[in-house]
Amino acid sequence: MKPTTVDDVLDLMDESFASAALGTAMELGLFWLLETKPLDAQGVAHALGIPPRRCYYWLQLLCRTGLIEEDSERYQPSSVARRAILEVYSRESWTLLAEEARERLPGLCGLPLHIRASEAASDTPERAFPTYLDKMAKEEDRARRFTRMLYEIHQPLADELTGLLDLGGVNRLMDLGGGSGVVSLALARRYPGLCVTVVDIDNVCAAGREIAIENSLDDRVIYHPADFLRDELPSGYDVVLECDVNVYSEALFHKVWHSLNPGGRFVIIDHFAPAEGAAPPSRMHWAFEKSLTDPDAVFPTAAGVRDQLTSAGFRILSESPVPSDPGPCRRFMDGLIAIEAIADRIA
Ligand SMILES: C[S@@+](CC[C@H](N)C(=O)[O-])C[C@H]1O[C@@H](n2cnc3c(N)ncnc32)[C@H](O)[C@@H]1O
Repeated sequence: MKPTTVDDVLDLMDESFASAALGTAMELGLFWLLETKPLDAQGVAHALGIPPRRCYYWLQLLCRTGLIEEDSERYQPSSVARRAILEVYSRESWTLLAEEARERLPGLCGLPLHIRASEAASDTPERAFPTYLDKMAKEEDRARRFTRMLYEIHQPLADELTGLLDLGGVNRLMDLGGGSGVVSLALARRYPGLCVTVVDIDNVCAAGREIAIENSLDDRVIYHPADFLRDELPSGYDVVLECDVNVYSEALFHKVWHSLNPGGRFVIIDHFAPAEGAAPPSRMHWAFEKSLTDPDAVFPTAAGVRDQLTSAGFRILSESPVPSDPGPCRRFMDGLIAIEAIADRIA
């Protein structure tokens, strides 16, 4: 919301109520409850175990967002909620997205108090929040839910990349930080001779393996548990793909270089900062959040990644925007860039 009046400014300061009311509706399953049957406030309060008066105010807050509407004292999802929530992702995915948004709040609550802090959050316990990777490494169920959520959300990306990447003649692909294997599974379907190794942390691999079995592709898409920053990577690959992982360093690229067969290709697909010290518009929140944990965190630029690749022995072949037909959601697809490099063996 872009305020234009003093009332708008005051409203904007209170937007956290709308945001929290919406996240609660997601986590408690309100849209799915009302989709089954419109209910009055009493009915919602009873079904969700909320004190009736509070429930009524909550429903009013939600009506103001336009996501539910009241008709003869009964509430139901609005047409916007049907189009932008119910028909887009599963309840499980929305629940996790809302949970992640809620978990980001503590870092923002004390913002005026710690925005000046120059030390890394890991040095100050009250600001040391676990990363999504920490949470998944610790909790099997969290990793499973995250992996399934991304499997759903990244289907349009997988479709797009299946059309974009030419893997003719490629036998072995490594999908670094491949998560569910959503892209790998789509590529394995398109290229029947292709065998893929998805490298990810243990709990994510377990969740991905289940998905590969459900797709009857577990013979050609296998999961290799590793922390790719700390552990050795397997080798003998014709192509390595790193898609939407946003972890780049010369040291990692050296490892990737050694994983590739001579002349093998490395393809990176991600959002990159438009300039040094900036962030892509769709990743501004994320960049800001990272800067709260680490004041020196920088969002990588494509030029920076190209330099790291070159220093690690790669020759850049191309850099191009990923054409996107984002489907119902632009956030995950808009502005993606593909960088392709080759592991020359000249040194
Ligand atoms: C945003 S997800 C993208 C997953 C997949 N590439 C896709 O496009 O759906 C990033 C993945 O990288 C993995 N990852 C991040 N850092 C990692 C590390 N150091 N070692 C192994 N996996 C890592 C995460 O576990 C997660 O599954």
